[in-house]
Amino acid sequence: MAAWHIYHPKRILLLGNTGQLGWELERTLAPLGELLACDYPEVDLANIESIRQVFHQCKPQLIINAAAYTAVDRAETEPNLANAINAIAPAILAEEAHNTGSGFIHFSTDYVFDGLNATPYLETDPPNPLSVYGRTKLAGEQKVQQIGGAYLILRTSWVYSLRRDSFVNKVLGWARSQPNLKLVTDQVSGPTWARMLAEVTSHLVLLGGDDIVDWLSEHRGLYHLAGSGYCSRFEWGQEVLRLDPHKEEQVVHELLPALTAEFPTPARRPLFSALNCDNFTQTFHLHMPDWKIALKLAMESL
Ligand SMILES: NC(=O)c1ccc[n+]([C@@H]2O[C@H](COP(=O)([O-])OP(=O)(O)OC[C@H]3O[C@@H](n4cnc5c(N)ncnc54)[C@H](OP(=O)(O)O)[C@@H]3O)[C@@H](O)[C@H]2O)c1
Repeated sequence: MAAWHIYHPKRILLLGNTGQLGWELERTLAPLGELLACDYPEVDLANIESIRQVFHQCKPQLIINAAAYTAVDRAETEPNLANAINAIAPAILAEEAHNTGSGFIHFSTDYVFDGLNATPYLETDPPNPLSVYGRTKLAGEQKVQQIGGAYLILRTSWVYSLRRDSFVNKVLGWARSQPNLKLVTDQVSGPTWARMLAEVTSHLVLLGGDDIVDWLSEHRGLYHLAGSGYCSRFEWGQEVLRLDPHKEEQVVHELLPALTAEFPTPARRPLFSALNCDNFTQTFHLHMPDWKIALKLAMESL
């Protein structure tokens, strides 16, 4: 007689479900298990007790952390808060996961690099962050790696969604309010649609199957995962304007190239921070589509 395969739904704790990535993850993860999704103030990642409490209430088999302190400029004047959320919180989550035999998926950023490379960064390239945000995210990566266990760190770049205040929405808004628009040509990276990143992350969870924790343990490590290809902010903006389904609302006549130095900001950003994602693709046989294809798909929903 054939043996029945009993499906045991995974208990998944998703943190940061109102953010760009977290919102999409809540939707793509929903069919994969019993999902508890929360954000501030139900859980405060700046408060260690709050993290431990939600962890012990949920008793997850898998924790996915899409929450972060992402205000890159504000972080320069709030380094302690950025450090608590981006460095200490992931360490607590990794520790809880390790102590209870759970899996942990965490996200990091291209801003851990100084941007001086001439070709896309590999996971083995030495980080050298230029900002408080980058330094705190790097500290988070390092703490998770030191704790070990069944973890994946997915480093991504230039995340956008059409729901929140992303670069894409800003360009669409500027194009409706000003005749000339200046965008920088000297900041280059890979635009990453939050939905595509959520889809690929959920495919990983599916690949892990019932033995997700062992599977994560086997594949543990840090991987680059971002939209394929790369471009400058100028080229990105140009493509956003080209794909805008409501061009009749645009008042912009000219898109002008500019340099980062013309727009001083509190935080320094890497100039070239594209990520080489070959290791991810070779390991998991999944890839992110070209950034232009993803942008077209994203903007079709407008
Ligand atoms: N955005 C990018 O361009 C980019 C680029 C590379 C890597 N990443 C990384 O990708 C991941 C997802 O980024 P994202 O763009 O989706 O970020 P996001 O839209 O800013 O979302 C972050 C989420 O974290 C929540 N959060 C902030 N402080 C918290 C706290 N003290 N306790 C609990 N939750 C808190 C935020 O809540 P509130 O909205 O209430 O503050 C928000 O829901 C992060 O790890 C980020 O570092 C992002």
